[in-house]
Amino acid sequence: MKVAEVTGPTVRLARADEIAGAGALTAEAYLADRLLDEDDEYEAQLRDAARRAREAILLVATVPCVESDGTATVVGTVTLARYGTDYAEIAEPGELEVRMLAVAPRARGRGIAEALMRAALGYAVASGARRVVLSTLDSMVTAHRLYARLGFVRAPDRDWGHQYVHLRVQTWTPPEAPGALVESRTWPPLRVEDVDGWRVGISDGLTRRGNSALLTGTAMRPGDALDRIERMYSQAGLPSIVRTPRPGGDGQGEEVAALLDARGYRTVAETDVLVRSLVGEPVLPARLELPGVRISERDEPDDAWLELWLGAKNDAADRDTGRAILTGVPALYLSMTSTYSATPLAVVRVTVVDDWAAVSCLVVDGSARRRGLARALTLHALHDGRDRGAQRAFLQVEAHNAAAAALYWGLGFQPADRYAYRERDARSGG
Ligand SMILES: CC(C)(COP(=O)(O)OP(=O)(O)OC[C@H]1O[C@@H](n2cnc3c(N)ncnc32)[C@H](O)[C@@H]1OP(=O)(O)O)[C@@H](O)C(=O)NCCC(=O)NCCS
Repeated sequence: MKVAEVTGPTVRLARADEIAGAGALTAEAYLADRLLDEDDEYEAQLRDAARRAREAILLVATVPCVESDGTATVVGTVTLARYGTDYAEIAEPGELEVRMLAVAPRARGRGIAEALMRAALGYAVASGARRVVLSTLDSMVTAHRLYARLGFVRAPDRDWGHQYVHLRVQTWTPPEAPGALVESRTWPPLRVEDVDGWRVGISDGLTRRGNSALLTGTAMRPGDALDRIERMYSQAGLPSIVRTPRPGGDGQGEEVAALLDARGYRTVAETDVLVRSLVGEPVLPARLELPGVRISERDEPDDAWLELWLGAKNDAADRDTGRAILTGVPALYLSMTSTYSATPLAVVRVTVVDDWAAVSCLVVDGSARRRGLARALTLHALHDGRDRGAQRAFLQVEAHNAAAAALYWGLGFQPADRYAYRERDARSGG
């Protein structure tokens, strides 16, 4: 099988027609690495991906295959088991356990395992897990390197084994998230109304961040509050959008989710909050200077900066609204231009709130992508944030934006939180 040249694999839940192949691939990968003895009973377990799909979470990595017109072909898989289920050997309450990571021998050396593990950590955060755990054999040297790169640490006191087998335990703990309130202070809506524990943002419809309701306290009568919120948005000529937290958090998340379900709200976007320390590990790389481009910084966005950020949405009214939202809090606006033109090739914004630097609005012009501009500009923004006293940085990225996620992982960011925007479907009468 030949795989097409691609920028990276797609990782997702296994579809029904992929499950048997994922099982065969797992056994094939373990056999190729001589991790199974002859007549090893474990081989049957590795092949039984159908049971894993039923009792755990079975993720697959796919790439387009040249020989079948670019059809997605499974080249790797990993299983995630919740505490208390059969596949969880060592997980404690609140932990998610990684099992049976496997990449087809013909697809190795292309970052497939790393993509699977990143997706696994993202899934863990999204499902509210407080830690991820896994066991490896001493001989799985390549895997040890991968887990160390992803920020796993050894937990020797949890090592275990049987007969002659020694299993090393490693754990990964998500970084602390800034939380919705810090996030919203870096993106203040033009108008804010407080409604019974909710903070309702209204900003002429520009960006969901500026035009959504967020539960910040305890709503005494959530249903009544939602009625009022829906009226406010309707009067402003806007759809009702609610930002909902990931499952398992504190507060009224579950109650609100049930209320939204009943009113026909649907998820319109899922966003990951990624975090990086600016003072600890991994050490922040030095600013990057690229030949032929320069970076300028201002306290306000000019029209050219706003035009690149807004892209297709760009008109004079949006520029004014965008400028008003962004400048509601002090921030720096970085532009990267070529040395012979004033038109920006890339823009980004950084603002510092408490000890957090929030990086936002990163866009690279379509004609200038994959030349390292985003990496260099984001690094500058992170240094600017640190120079202004921030100890850590966060940014928000839509869950489907694989290019941005790869960029940020490469810069040392890790998933810390996930939230969703839910919008009332007009057909439900809202
Ligand atoms: C995401 C975006 C900013 C990347 O800009 P860029 O200048 O092309 O990125 P760089 O050249 O600096 O790439 C750095 C790394 O990011 C990752 N990356 C960037 N584009 C990628 C793509 N299309 N697919 C997979 N990985 C990608 C790679 O890891 C890359 O490193 P590599 O080239 O050594 O493999 C650009 O695609 C963009 O403007 N997209 C639309 C706006 C957007 O999504 N902004 C982010 C909002 S959170």
